Amino acid sequence: MLPYLLVSRSAEYETRLRALLGDRLAVVPGEFLTFGPEAVVSRVNDVPRIAMLGPVLNYEETRGLVDALTAKHPNLGLIVVREQRSDLEDWVDELSLHAVLNPDATDETTVGLLDRLALWLVAHGHAESHDFDVPAAVEVEDAPFIDAAVADEVVVDSDLAAELAASDEVEPEAPMWEFPPLEAGAPTEAIAVVAPKGGQGKTTIAINLATGLAEVAPNSVVLVDADLQFGDITATLALQPDKTIVDAVADAAIDELVLKTTLTRHEDGFFVVASAPSPELGDQVAPAALADLISRLRSTFRFVVIDTTPGLGEHTLVTLEHVTDAVFVTNMGVPSLRATRTEFELLTKLGLMPGNRHIVLNQVDKHSGLTIKDVENIIGAPVDIEVPKSSAVLLASNRGVPLIHDDVRDPAAKAIRSIVLRIAPEAFPKRSKIQRRRRSNEPE
Ligand SMILES: Nc1ncnc2c1ncn2[C@@H]1O[C@H](COP(=O)(O)OP(=O)(O)OP(=O)(O)O)[C@@H](O)[C@H]1O
Ligand SMILES: [Mg+2]
Repeated sequence: MLPYLLVSRSAEYETRLRALLGDRLAVVPGEFLTFGPEAVVSRVNDVPRIAMLGPVLNYEETRGLVDALTAKHPNLGLIVVREQRSDLEDWVDELSLHAVLNPDATDETTVGLLDRLALWLVAHGHAESHDFDVPAAVEVEDAPFIDAAVADEVVVDSDLAAELAASDEVEPEAPMWEFPPLEAGAPTEAIAVVAPKGGQGKTTIAINLATGLAEVAPNSVVLVDADLQFGDITATLALQPDKTIVDAVADAAIDELVLKTTLTRHEDGFFVVASAPSPELGDQVAPAALADLISRLRSTFRFVVIDTTPGLGEHTLVTLEHVTDAVFVTNMGVPSLRATRTEFELLTKLGLMPGNRHIVLNQVDKHSGLTIKDVENIIGAPVDIEVPKSSAVLLASNRGVPLIHDDVRDPAAKAIRSIVLRIAPEAFPKRSKIQRRRRSNEPE
């Protein structure tokens, strides 16, 4: 007997519930919703008593599931697992749910809610108390236990949904941050950071660009790791993403709320779309899906910064087609400079050169044997920003902190700030705005 059913796209949440409910939990991955709610229902062999829908299911999917599940199992208890949002009340009203549970609720709250709903179902004749028993042969540590005697004593004469909605215990916690709404018609900018060759400093520039722009537009900047096979933004920033670009381009994420759940927040006030968890999964992200993702993010965020794969592959070409700005990064090596010239010529020929072009000469070293004039002659265009070679870049990366907040006086940090200024002139670096992160061994 599997009294509990979970339909969710979050493997992490599934693992948590399994630890709580053990062998009493049946799981149907939310991915089956691609084939419609019936495909999910047909995979449920047992008669579930309580279904948990979410996290990471959109409204339409949840509605379809509620209809299909209750048609087959009319006495089912229904819980939507979802963060608190302004439209939550509509979901509860329109979907006849019994409760809404925050995916981040503690184990105690989660088990407490399941127990109370089980008691209510038993008290109303929708289930038997032994339906929820832990199977005799299986011992589940800390599993919730519903005592039949207690269940018999329960008198539930009010509407459970109202009761639970009023309960502090299941009140979802308010998010610690908000996505500031964009004013209607407000301009949004998308900035691709590109280079024809690897290792020129794209990721370094992209991370610090997002950090600097987030000072102008806190929580309205998203940094997309579109280096699909070997993206390393989350590793460089010491972030642990729950979701990646693979989730962000999935059909479900067409819903803006679902899309937001795929982002990972950095404490400096910007969001990250993490790269694919493996090169194989990265390969599955179609160029058109990436273009669509950029467009959708532009309708929510003031600035979208995109780190790319080296070269001019299909993904980078569609990215360039959907941005307002391109930051071209090269070092002082002649092969890289020549490749940059070829890249410019090709993009101009294809009509894909974005409106605003910023040429960044990175790792500038006066011992390179080339002058800036030489560099400009090779690439056939003036250099906009020179970023010196600096050991602070690697130090910041090893500490997991954006350089411009790690070492504000470092010459490379100052140069990268001037790229931010080219894109957002309002980001004039007032002293009060520039905060250096305290090192762990510094006094408070
Ligand atoms: N101005 C700089 N001074 C010193 N080191 C730098 C500088 N810019 C980048 N680096 C170092 O160069 C290496 C490559 O930088 P980064 O990862 O940003 O390049 P990338 O273009 O994203 O590389 P990939 O093509 O592999 O994605 C890193 O170790 C980084 O710390
Ligand atoms: Mg990179």
